[in-house]
Amino acid sequence: MLDSKVAKLINEQIAKEFYSAYLYLDFSIYYEAQGLDGFANWYMIQAQEERDHAMLFLKYLQLNGEKASLEAIGKPDKELDSLMAPLKAGLEHEQYVTSLINGIYNAAYEVKDFRTMQFLDWFVKEQLEEEKNADDMIKKMELFGNDSKGLYSLDAEYAARIYSAPSLVL
Ligand code: FEO
Repeated sequence: MLDSKVAKLINEQIAKEFYSAYLYLDFSIYYEAQGLDGFANWYMIQAQEERDHAMLFLKYLQLNGEKASLEAIGKPDKELDSLMAPLKAGLEHEQYVTSLINGIYNAAYEVKDFRTMQFLDWFVKEQLEEEKNADDMIKKMELFGNDSKGLYSLDAEYAARIYSAPSLVL
């Protein structure tokens, strides 16, 4: 059995990760409508990764004998009014997710729940990668996005992203 606060936060994180998937799906739809299929592909895969994160939190609860209770998933609420807007909203969102992971980690730390801390280590590392990717995309857009050839090359780069299952297996 998990500490009730830890279990509650992990349960809430399932919906937060599905919200992330929803948000990135919204970004993908936006870029697809702009004719940038590579950016759309990148965020479609990102949405799949977020769904994987949600499923990992669900499975972890179940492995610990906890019954999950699915919360409502919010409507994506970021204003997408420029090619740069989703990229900046993405970084801001990942920084928020990092704070959520840290919050769960802190709750586990307070009750000496070493098992949950070890489980969360993967997410702590993953958040570093998520923030770095989001930051890199903003920098590349600043550098190359104002030029049509540069934008075309960036789109081609993002079109090459392929889905791979998470390295964490429970
Ligand atoms: Fe589930 Fe983008 O972190």
